[in-house]
Amino acid sequence: MPDFWQGAASVQDGAAQLAADLLDIQPDQRILDVCAAPGGKTAHLLENSPSSASLLALDIDEKRNQRVIENLQRLQLSADVITADALETNAWFSGDPFQRILLDAPCSATGVIRRHPDIKLLRKPSDIPALTELQSKLLDKMWALLDKKGVLLYATCSILSAENSQQIASFMARHADAKEIKIDAEWGLPCEYGRQILPGDNNMDGFYYACIKKI
Ligand SMILES: C[S@@+](CC[C@H](N)C(=O)[O-])C[C@H]1O[C@@H](n2cnc3c(N)ncnc32)[C@H](O)[C@@H]1O
Repeated sequence: MPDFWQGAASVQDGAAQLAADLLDIQPDQRILDVCAAPGGKTAHLLENSPSSASLLALDIDEKRNQRVIENLQRLQLSADVITADALETNAWFSGDPFQRILLDAPCSATGVIRRHPDIKLLRKPSDIPALTELQSKLLDKMWALLDKKGVLLYATCSILSAENSQQIASFMARHADAKEIKIDAEWGLPCEYGRQILPGDNNMDGFYYACIKKI
């Protein structure tokens, strides 16, 4: 692609591109992009934010995080990039809360089988409980870092309700200070909580989003 390495363009599925608008970043806000690598959404969030906003991108995987750094360099964008286990907040959280958090959670990836057909062979039903437990821990830990009136956007590339609407229903039952912001959109299907895109809808990957405000 001409000028790709000079940052003229990025390549990202339409469903993944929805995150930047949903997060609705305002001037001077501190953004946490947790589970950020390889950084497709990190870059788009920065491109979509006022220049006074600041972003911390965090991922547990050093190699994948290198891709975040490369993507930011290619697009001439700047963010703090940290390699850490998001759950070990003592090791990396400064104590300054975030006004916006994107949690693009590790998931079954059942929404992106058309691009990664190996998932059909490699993903086992027995993988799901460990994933839902990790997602639930990440949600609880990240919630504690969110400022009052702040917004957490939960995203997966899964089509399984256990990782999506059911996961958020359990979260809402655990957190009295959480209120869902209903996503009013023409894409996807409304669920009890959040919105589900099925693979191929509007030629997008299967994806799930839920937007939660701290009251
Ligand atoms: C769905 S991918 C993120 C995709 C990325 N947000 C993007 O748009 O390019 C999920 C990421 O979660 C990371 N991850 C899994 N467990 C984690 C943990 N405990 N702490 C931080 N990152 C974790 C994985 O390394 C993986 O990069």
